[in-house]
Amino acid sequence: MTKKAEINNKNNIDTTVKAPIVEALKTAYENPTYQFHIPGHTKGKAVFKEFRKLIGDKALSLDTTDEFDNLGTLHPATGPIKEAQELAAEAFGAKKTFFLLNGSTAGNLAIAMALTKKGQKIIVNRNCHRSVLTGLMISGAEPVWVCPTRIDDWSIWGNIEAWQIEELLEKDKDISMVWVTNPTYEGVVSDIKSISAVCKKYNVPLIVDEAHGCLWNFNKHLPETALKLGADAVVHSLHKTGGSMSQTSMLHISKDSCLDEKSVEKALKLLHTTSPSLLLLASLDAARANLQTANGLRQIDRAVSNAKYLRKRLDEIPNLHQLKSDFGYKTDVTKVFIKIDGLSGKRLESILEIDFGIEVESASDIGVLILCNLGNKRSDFKYLADALEKIASENHKDIYYLEKRKHMPMLEPKIIMSLREAYYAEKETIKKEDAIGRISAEVVAECPPGISILLPGELITEEHLPYLNDYQTLDVVKKGQ
Ligand SMILES: Cc1ncc(COP(=O)(O)O)c(C=O)c1O
Repeated sequence: MTKKAEINNKNNIDTTVKAPIVEALKTAYENPTYQFHIPGHTKGKAVFKEFRKLIGDKALSLDTTDEFDNLGTLHPATGPIKEAQELAAEAFGAKKTFFLLNGSTAGNLAIAMALTKKGQKIIVNRNCHRSVLTGLMISGAEPVWVCPTRIDDWSIWGNIEAWQIEELLEKDKDISMVWVTNPTYEGVVSDIKSISAVCKKYNVPLIVDEAHGCLWNFNKHLPETALKLGADAVVHSLHKTGGSMSQTSMLHISKDSCLDEKSVEKALKLLHTTSPSLLLLASLDAARANLQTANGLRQIDRAVSNAKYLRKRLDEIPNLHQLKSDFGYKTDVTKVFIKIDGLSGKRLESILEIDFGIEVESASDIGVLILCNLGNKRSDFKYLADALEKIASENHKDIYYLEKRKHMPMLEPKIIMSLREAYYAEKETIKKEDAIGRISAEVVAECPPGISILLPGELITEEHLPYLNDYQTLDVVKKGQ
């Protein structure tokens, strides 16, 4: 399935867009064999009837795993899977790309397992995703926390400044890696170019969790990808904004990186399922191919233009505010974080859902996050803007104060014990109110945004309580440990 496509993205990548896994899966579908192997539902013949009706015979008969029907293998990468990973590397501007099942979570775990070790000090931003913490708990490396700037009006973390990284590297010469998240969940962008220059000056690798930025390489109105700005490794959740199926992501090693990519590959082999879904792998292949076609590039242009349209409409609504780059931070235009005077984000989320049938990406005590996605039409944004205009025109003062729960953890951790030591220490489960003054033995981080409220080894204080409304008990390190 070779298709000519007109390419006008930043890199003029290619004029021919191939999707080898999609092609191999199509061939396998059109040439069925007598199947005596997994998956045991045998092309959908042995599944619950209602489920089969719901998702269709074709989807079930395409549900297969690697090794069979000339589809190649994931570990080691062979056949169409190897070819698809190479095409992805080329498209994203990487030396090497690994396809990830279990999302960017798998990529972060593999980075930690392969590239960090016990006791090694690593700069990590306080608002990192919990998968980074899990990785460090496995390897035993020690985070040196960098707290981004705060955007207090919005109760969110902002960008990380290069001078913050430099200060930490200057102070502690044992730090051997920098691992930052960019952009934030709400779309705030850090100056990765300057951070990378600092890392090069101190000769430490830079890892960027760009889970929410996989479209950046394909449109000039979006920020520049860290792969172009000097990062050594980057993870992308293609399923979040890139058009692939849920839980599929990519891990890229940059062209001039000296990171040990063989170790990363070995860690992924250990972390991944031994029965990877070909449907999921094909959806990654298809998403990459789509982003390289004229149609895919148009979809990104449309998402950017829809975001601009929505932002313009929102600017005209009294009592409604949106997080913008002119607040002093660069942002990704497609992530629109808004708030309405007198109305908590959670309440706004419910009104949108119940009264208008609108589901947003997430809600905090302050506002709601709207993603302007590839698949949305202009009419979706007109409907959303009209709904918001209507909601903002009503008086909500009395409702606001009903919302007592805080959603975005904005705390600077007071570390008492190492992450791994506390996680594996003898623990006890106690009432949340009795936990003040004790040491957390667990990661408390709800998704979204998956940013930790409490880390293992962190002192629990009264400040944590407003974030813990959904918890009755906490795991703490047993006294005397
Ligand atoms: C910054 C960041 N990194 C990593 C992840 C994990 O991504 P995935 O859901 O693809 O495993 C998330 C998920 O929300 C995230 O926000």
